[in-house]
Amino acid sequence: MTVVERARAAFAAAFGADPDGVWAAPGRVNVIGEHTDYNEGFVLPVALPHTTRAAVALRDDGLVSLASVQHPGDRVELPVADLAPGRPGGWAGYPAGVVHELRDRVPGGVSVLVDGDVPSGAGLSSSAALECAVALALRDLAAPGLTPADLVDVARRAENDFVGAPTGILDQSASMLCTAGHALFLDTRDRSAVQVPFDLAAAGLALLVVDTGTTHDHATGGYGDRRRECEQAAGRLGVAALRDVPDVAALAVLDDGTAEGAVLLRRARHIVTENARVLEVVATLRGAAGPAAIGPVLTAGHASLRDDFQISTTELDAAVAAALDAGALGARMVGGGFGGSAIALVPADAVDAVTGAVTTRFAEARFGAPRTFVAVPSAGAQRLA
Ligand code: GLA
Repeated sequence: MTVVERARAAFAAAFGADPDGVWAAPGRVNVIGEHTDYNEGFVLPVALPHTTRAAVALRDDGLVSLASVQHPGDRVELPVADLAPGRPGGWAGYPAGVVHELRDRVPGGVSVLVDGDVPSGAGLSSSAALECAVALALRDLAAPGLTPADLVDVARRAENDFVGAPTGILDQSASMLCTAGHALFLDTRDRSAVQVPFDLAAAGLALLVVDTGTTHDHATGGYGDRRRECEQAAGRLGVAALRDVPDVAALAVLDDGTAEGAVLLRRARHIVTENARVLEVVATLRGAAGPAAIGPVLTAGHASLRDDFQISTTELDAAVAAALDAGALGARMVGGGFGGSAIALVPADAVDAVTGAVTTRFAEARFGAPRTFVAVPSAGAQRLA
């Protein structure tokens, strides 16, 4: 059974009719550029082959009705007019948030069946995948004038305003705009985007993803603290965003002898060096050395997230160390932090050795078994049927 047949069948079982269409949007991993997005900096994500599918049909009774293959028995149905931030919550909040954003376009309501295989809570943007699949569906069915950039904003507002997670624009941009075989070099300030060829297989490499199985929640966790610290640092530096800080030397004024000043210096130093790392990786990918040469920059990014931004975990550090010890060219945690996944850039013939080494390290440390897979840069959101 194809994913389209599966989504159609599940839609028919839930709603007793055929959907108007089936849409898909992927999860992502960020090659480099972590926590730079809400500092108006640079990011470089790739889309995963894992997607969330939305089978969708417009209604005429004013209700939004939401069902999910992954949450059987948790059907959510209420008038479009009753949608409000936090209502509904849980998984249904993401599609509901998108419907809420576009409520003027779907006054008759909408039925949505969700199915997917993006691991959730793994730092791989399952929430953005869900938002983007539904946003694209509503664009095609009811809001033809919206551009991909508009849909990124719709999906992001669903996450920020409806679900209440104070995230940046990285995940929704990746899910909506990435193309197969490329990394998306995005300037989150002016939203200019360039597709950078990222054909790892041709270079004899693979991007291994290690899901540590430890979860995070950006609506309640330390993510919001980091965001506030960055804003505070920018304020003290007198810049609109940390993107505007030219170099690490310019951060010295943050160190005012207080513990707070020392923390702000670290947070800002991560952002300034991380933006530089994105530019360095893009330049390297475009140069003669190619992807094999970006490894050390990825590893430096991990050290910065661990030591300056302080959002890594024991499990993420272990995954990175074990991968490097077993021959990875570079490795780092990805996403918002406090759990989730790491990536390792690995010679194709060393994937099994690195996977084995990480698994063994986790078993020795009595961590839960990690889930690993090779991420092939894949397509962004699209209509499947
Ligand atoms: C989460 C957020 C993104 C971004 C990353 C860190 O995934 O949703 O906006 O801030 O963390 O790079």
